[in-house]
Amino acid sequence: MTRTVRFAPARKLRGTVTPPADKSISHRAAIFGAMAAEPVRVRNYLHAEDTISTLDAVRQLGALVTVDDDGLVTIRGTGLRNTTELDAPIDVGNAGTLMRLLPGWLAGQEGRSYTLDGDASIRRRPVDRIADPLRRMGATIDATDDRLPPFTVHGAHLRSIAYDMPVASAQVKSCVLLAGLVADGATTVMEPAPSRDHTERMLAASGVTVHRNGRHVTVTNVDELVLDDLVVPGDPSSAAFLIAAGVLVSGSRISILGSGTNWTRTGFHRIVQRMGGIVVGELEEELGDGVVGTEPVADLEVAHGPLTGTEVEAEEVPLAIDELPLVALLGCFAEGETVVRGAGELRLKESDRIATVVDGLNGLGGDLEATDDGFVVRGTGGLKGGTIASHGDHRLAMLGAIAGLASDEGVEVVGMEAADVSYPTFANDLASLLGG
Ligand code: S3P
Repeated sequence: MTRTVRFAPARKLRGTVTPPADKSISHRAAIFGAMAAEPVRVRNYLHAEDTISTLDAVRQLGALVTVDDDGLVTIRGTGLRNTTELDAPIDVGNAGTLMRLLPGWLAGQEGRSYTLDGDASIRRRPVDRIADPLRRMGATIDATDDRLPPFTVHGAHLRSIAYDMPVASAQVKSCVLLAGLVADGATTVMEPAPSRDHTERMLAASGVTVHRNGRHVTVTNVDELVLDDLVVPGDPSSAAFLIAAGVLVSGSRISILGSGTNWTRTGFHRIVQRMGGIVVGELEEELGDGVVGTEPVADLEVAHGPLTGTEVEAEEVPLAIDELPLVALLGCFAEGETVVRGAGELRLKESDRIATVVDGLNGLGGDLEATDDGFVVRGTGGLKGGTIASHGDHRLAMLGAIAGLASDEGVEVVGMEAADVSYPTFANDLASLLGG
């Protein structure tokens, strides 16, 4: 049901928050747990709509999954080559990461076929980007109009490939690397620009030989994954909303505990700093406070301050891909122009995020212009407020909420329930910073 919530202008945000568990890493933990032969326990798994879809999917494939009262997830997997045969489709819900990663594993299930489908947003998100390499490896993929869900993966005996990815996508890279586990020989992926490397880290922690040589990543096939228990750090993409709130609302000073600081996920921190926003406590992963499982984490301090516009180029885009809507919001409050280029991928996310962000923020009094592969924001020092629709996109719903706190007159978000996809405790966390 559509939920409309009004976010009034805030005076200042104060306090300490722990962001929810990382969505990307939780998806991977569930899939790796399912591929392992021995039971795997996952601490701090994200219990949100997207990652519940992943637990349901691996259950369908034959993994036994239990969740105890503290949220600890235990997965008794099927092993790498023994997924259950299904006569019903796998419902990925709204989860693009599940839809793109799982087929890598399924493509190597010889003689078995799996159909994947999802919600209306998923049905407009392309799968040809994974179908192409998986076909080259020997699988057959039947997709709607040859590029969209629902689609069927017919598992086969896979051969290894060297794949030159046309887009810098961690989802495509991960899909090919997972297929490489069950293919003959060594599989190499070459990325046009660095993207998040959670899969490579988890593979290495599972006893798989993973080599990185510049932009090339190579995995060698294995019989089984040997996995220790996993721990999921705080999600930097969820924490980014709190950072934006702290930077934009005057008088704010907040602490964010245990946020992931993997360099491939903290492009937004670097952009905020370039704009003059104050975020301290991390930067280089070597300087992070600690390590959670296979990932570096740190506590962050965020304070309000004046911002200036900046330029974000293609190389930086994959390192801040999910936070670019927030860069647009910060740009509205900055002095001068903020420009994002080389981000055409935004059009293929949960919504067309170039259109929905530009139209949404313009509707609140912003001055933004869409380009083919990004946007230009002319900073006006603030936002009046008004109404914004989430279009069923979790990050757009939360963008509207933060815009409301920083606006002159408040913002009504239509479709706030979308936030449950990645950050079910979002409203409570904001309320705690508002002292409410
Ligand atoms: C993700 C990678 C990104 C990101 C998505 C999660 C992942 O997508 O936008 O939210 O977990 O690998 P692409 O790699 O397709 O850009």
